[in-house]
Amino acid sequence: MKKKVTINDLAKRAEVSVTTVSQILNGKGDRFSKKTVEKVHELQKEMGYVPDFNAQSLIRRSGRTLGIIVPNINNPFFSRFLRGIESAALERDYVPLVFGSNDSEKQETRYLFESIRRAADGLIIASAVSDLNEIDHILSQNEISYLLIDQAPVKDGDQVEVHNYDGGKLLADHLLKNGHTDVSVVKANKPTTNLEERLQGFLDAFDAAGHKIEPSHVISADLTKMGGYEAADSVLKTKTTAVFAINDEVAFGLYRAFAEKGISIPDDISVVGYDDIDLAEYFTPKLTTVHQPAFEMGETAAKLLIDRIENRDTPKQRVSLSIHLEVRDSVKKITE
Ligand code: RIB
Repeated sequence: MKKKVTINDLAKRAEVSVTTVSQILNGKGDRFSKKTVEKVHELQKEMGYVPDFNAQSLIRRSGRTLGIIVPNINNPFFSRFLRGIESAALERDYVPLVFGSNDSEKQETRYLFESIRRAADGLIIASAVSDLNEIDHILSQNEISYLLIDQAPVKDGDQVEVHNYDGGKLLADHLLKNGHTDVSVVKANKPTTNLEERLQGFLDAFDAAGHKIEPSHVISADLTKMGGYEAADSVLKTKTTAVFAINDEVAFGLYRAFAEKGISIPDDISVVGYDDIDLAEYFTPKLTTVHQPAFEMGETAAKLLIDRIENRDTPKQRVSLSIHLEVRDSVKKITE
């Protein structure tokens, strides 16, 4: 086993007590001479001493850690979301501990327990495969604050809203405006509440315009690029003029399948997505999609959670973030 530099080693070299080193390194060295303070800091650098996390957590009764559980780390939407969390957490001197549940209940539960074991002060849960009542029970018993977001529906508690229903409606209105009255949808085969709301907004807008979407035109797929790729044949069988992919990853799966079949977007079929991941501007044609403020979602979630960790009596907070339609090149106008 490797020998870590300890506070004892540093104290010995500095010829002071362990308490003196600890106080100086914790910014409480006012009562020591300038020479001693400088010596301790110089030796810390020279010896590469890193204070022991467990000892510090015990003193502070906090690990200054946020446990984060997302469904799929592979998806750029969640990378952007995590960057937002990271930015807010670091600003308030917390460290994010990130877990991907891969849509597995077993993994999600394991990471929940790992976060508690590793002294997380709070959790942000964006994945929703487990029973939320159970999650609430475990975390409340351990007096750990948590915030549910995105795929994990909020029943009670701090909330970051992003209006999925309106997002679905924005896409529908855009397609209708461009003359698409017969469209298909690739939805998630295990839809979470946010995805269901997104789909409902889309279906309701077509319904309201007098162009009800046939149930056979709503195709289920995995919420991945492969899911989109595999759904392409079913989409083409509907002979619709446009398809709404429930997220951008699914849209890019369709892109690849259509390209392989010699189907051109948007001349043969228009495609719209949801999220506005970074790749949306780099594929040809550039994807028309709904922009979700993934970074701000993460940033706000972390801020609200830290507020709650630091004061459990903070009144419940609800922040609404706006979405917008990003019109690019993947929709063809088929009206005069
Ligand atoms: O791309 C990931 C999708 O799952 C996003 O649309 C996000 O809202 C999440 O639910």
